[in-house]
Amino acid sequence: MNCDESLDNARDKELKKVRDEVLALIRSPLYAERIKNKYFPVIGEGSHSAQIMFIGEAPGENEAKTGRPFCGRAGKILDELLTSINIARKDVYVTNIVKDRPPKNRNPLPDEIAIYAPFLDRQIEIIKPKVVATLGRFSMQYVMHRYGLEKELSSISVLHGKVFSAKDFKLVSLYHPAAAIYNQHLLGTLKEDFKVLKTLV
Ligand code: URA
Repeated sequence: MNCDESLDNARDKELKKVRDEVLALIRSPLYAERIKNKYFPVIGEGSHSAQIMFIGEAPGENEAKTGRPFCGRAGKILDELLTSINIARKDVYVTNIVKDRPPKNRNPLPDEIAIYAPFLDRQIEIIKPKVVATLGRFSMQYVMHRYGLEKELSSISVLHGKVFSAKDFKLVSLYHPAAAIYNQHLLGTLKEDFKVLKTLV
């Protein structure tokens, strides 16, 4: 086994641990919803040695029914954006801060973010992406606070497409793809901002 292969195995093992712990997270306020609706938690998907990690907010209904991140309408837009910069989805890693679906797609609550965020931190630590791309304001605010960029925080309309340097990765905050479902103008903005990702890998 060469060095890269054993690193990949170690990452697979660590990520499996994260998955198993989220599966067993009965103390989460969203666990009862998972069971009641026969939903799955959505842990994350993609390359375990990805250079780019995308972080959304929380699973929607399609995602909770399948256990896969960004597989509904917002996911189609994410796929279109990745295609526009010639990056294959299988080569990036896609996850969310909150791993279970909040009822009726409401915004995640602070205590929900607090419960799931340590799993996200571990995913970042294990995968070690060169670039973290946040999708929407919740993941932007969390990552900027957590990784020493809180002084730079502003609204997403100001920060989108800008590159920040955290200790171990570059951060690019992006609008959430769902915001472009009803707003073609934002789709154009997202396409422009995605070009920035391409310059960083
Ligand atoms: N929106 C998100 O933030 N994450 C998903 O996985 C799907 C929709």
